[in-house]
Amino acid sequence: MSNIARFTVSIEEDLLERFDRYCQEESLATRSEAVRQLIHERLTNRAWETGHDEVAGTLTLVYDHHRPQLGQGLTKLQHDNTDLIIATTHIHLTHDTCLEVIILRGTARRLQQVAAQLKGMKGIIRGELVVARAGG
Ligand code: NI
Repeated sequence: MSNIARFTVSIEEDLLERFDRYCQEESLATRSEAVRQLIHERLTNRAWETGHDEVAGTLTLVYDHHRPQLGQGLTKLQHDNTDLIIATTHIHLTHDTCLEVIILRGTARRLQQVAAQLKGMKGIIRGELVVARAGG
């Protein structure tokens, strides 16, 4: 774990009151916890927008496994990007559908590209990418 640094923030009273209400509504234990989460969120969003920085995330796919070529297509695309894909979990969800969770790590730009390619394949019922964090 990193060393903890402390810093003082000057802020308008009414803004601080709103922030405290936000912390309470979001069940955040302390102001420090809330500020930490907001900084992480903002840096992750920024990395996502610029595309250059490294991010990690999960891609959840639900698909129809009767669809011809889809399973092979998904496997091929993952084999073409082994540096980006850390792990994959596959669950046979119902008789007709599969659920696959793919964990990725790499530059935001490549993550966006590969996730879009995977989500865009014919037979994908639902695809959702969640970006977990930025940085190393
Ligand atoms: Ni399956």
